Amino acid sequence: MERIDKVLSSALKSSRADIKKLMKKQCVTVNGVRITAADAKVDPYNDEIRLNGRPIVYQKHIYIMMNKPKGVISASEDKSVPTVTDLVPKELKRPNLFPAGRLDADTTGFVLITDDGDFAHRILSPKRHVEKTYHAVLEKELNDGDAKRFADGIRLRDGTVCLEGKLEALGDRKVSVTIHEGKYHQVRRMFASLGNRVLELKRVKIGGLPLDEKLKEGECREITEDELEKITQ
Ligand code: URA
Repeated sequence: MERIDKVLSSALKSSRADIKKLMKKQCVTVNGVRITAADAKVDPYNDEIRLNGRPIVYQKHIYIMMNKPKGVISASEDKSVPTVTDLVPKELKRPNLFPAGRLDADTTGFVLITDDGDFAHRILSPKRHVEKTYHAVLEKELNDGDAKRFADGIRLRDGTVCLEGKLEALGDRKVSVTIHEGKYHQVRRMFASLGNRVLELKRVKIGGLPLDEKLKEGECREITEDELEKITQ
């Protein structure tokens, strides 16, 4: 059982204080009975909760797409450096938000932030092979054999062998890279082992879901249910 103000605050994306006021002014019913007490307990999955006659859809977890700027770290909390969860606006904030997968501090682009540990585990598990696509600006143009070396699975300088990746030239030292795993500094280390260097790196897609181009760096928005499915399809 959960407090009704908590359930409504999550479903309506409003603060608990606003929900308390709303419950006084408007008609919230639980199984047909009007409720005004913010601390009333409900079963959000089985009770029929309505606001002015309209059913409330309770969503247990939240999934947020962020366009991470540079200088922000992919963590939930840090005393000295801003984190991606610090940038989540109040209306999307939930307890226990964390980034599902890390980007380096100087990498920009798509970070998925959620409070759903099972989902994060599924998309990060190496067995699921959820693709991540990056755009990079390199120090030097690609060599002829580079795409083949990515396709065959690059051996990093420390001997680690990566799963096969896809490398495409976009022109003017810009490339698109798609990989299925998330080893530490993986893209930067893959290019280092080719004798090249990544100058700029941006994640542009997770699974089949591209970063929303309308999101400026530092902005985020909720991921819809349909979009969520695209991540693992
Ligand atoms: N690979 C990297 O080297 N850095 C990132 O942030 C992500 C992938």
